[in-house]
Amino acid sequence: MTTKQAHLIYFSPTHTSKQVAEAIVRGTGITNVVTTNLTLQPAQELVLDESSLAVIAVPVYGGHVAPLALDRLNSLRGNNTPAVLVVVYGNRAYEKSLMELDFWAVEHGFKVIAGGTFIGEHSFSSEKYPVSAGRPNQDDLDKAMDFGRKIATKVETAADAERLYAVDVRSIRRPRQPFFPLFRFLRKVIALRKSGTPIPRTPWIPDESMCVHCGVCAENCPSGAIISGDELNVNADKCIKCCACVKSCSQQARVYDTPFVVLLSQCFERQKEPQILL
Ligand SMILES: Cc1cc2nc3c(=O)[nH]c(=O)nc-3n(C[C@H](O)[C@H](O)[C@H](O)COP(=O)(O)O)c2cc1C
Repeated sequence: MTTKQAHLIYFSPTHTSKQVAEAIVRGTGITNVVTTNLTLQPAQELVLDESSLAVIAVPVYGGHVAPLALDRLNSLRGNNTPAVLVVVYGNRAYEKSLMELDFWAVEHGFKVIAGGTFIGEHSFSSEKYPVSAGRPNQDDLDKAMDFGRKIATKVETAADAERLYAVDVRSIRRPRQPFFPLFRFLRKVIALRKSGTPIPRTPWIPDESMCVHCGVCAENCPSGAIISGDELNVNADKCIKCCACVKSCSQQARVYDTPFVVLLSQCFERQKEPQILL
């Protein structure tokens, strides 16, 4: 079977899902690539055909597909279109997110021919409390490229669309998770909740004089929670805590210091590895 076009689709406020998806597409060797970036706005209604290959990558929020990503994906449909599904998570757990994405994809006319779980720097990661800092690293991206090559081989060796078989994403290997750090994490989360320590609802600027009102945070905010010209305020009802504003701030004026990140940093130091299924 030949694939005419790769359709690269992602929602990626802090660019880790984007990096992984791009590496996979590079690995396929397909040069005709159409990109749909759902991060800042929904896409136009679009139907992909059977001769395209869709590579769809989204981040994991609270063990689920980031809700805004799922919402924005709804403008896309397949027509028995082969799809590669990828969830990118911050080294804690991806829980049911890959299954959710698979459920969405099948409902929307895609045939899921491969799946992957990759690790990205946690959105809440900071210099003081790093969580999977620097991921995806070169090794992750090499694995993503190799995944892309394997996908291309799978497609090329299928005699026709019917024989390009679908996968059951539930059978993907779970990453190794040692019991004690997980137990420690759960105990600490319960203690944190019991203590009533407030969890900040949005990132903020501790020293307002550091903000130069360049508007970059507003430009990078996927949900319109920050308005250019009024960068000191964040609309808590709209904010999805993706931390695009924190990571894009050239002055490093904005922070999201949540007590939760301390626990993540302490309990998920051991780095997980990407897993793929073809
Ligand atoms: C609100 C929120 C919730 C998150 N929940 C999880 C989670 O449940 N498990 C996990 O491992 N990482 C979690 N993360 C981390 C992201 O999945 C991770 O940083 C991902 O690489 C971000 O993708 P992006 O760079 O494409 O935005 C969460 C991040 C945010 C902002």
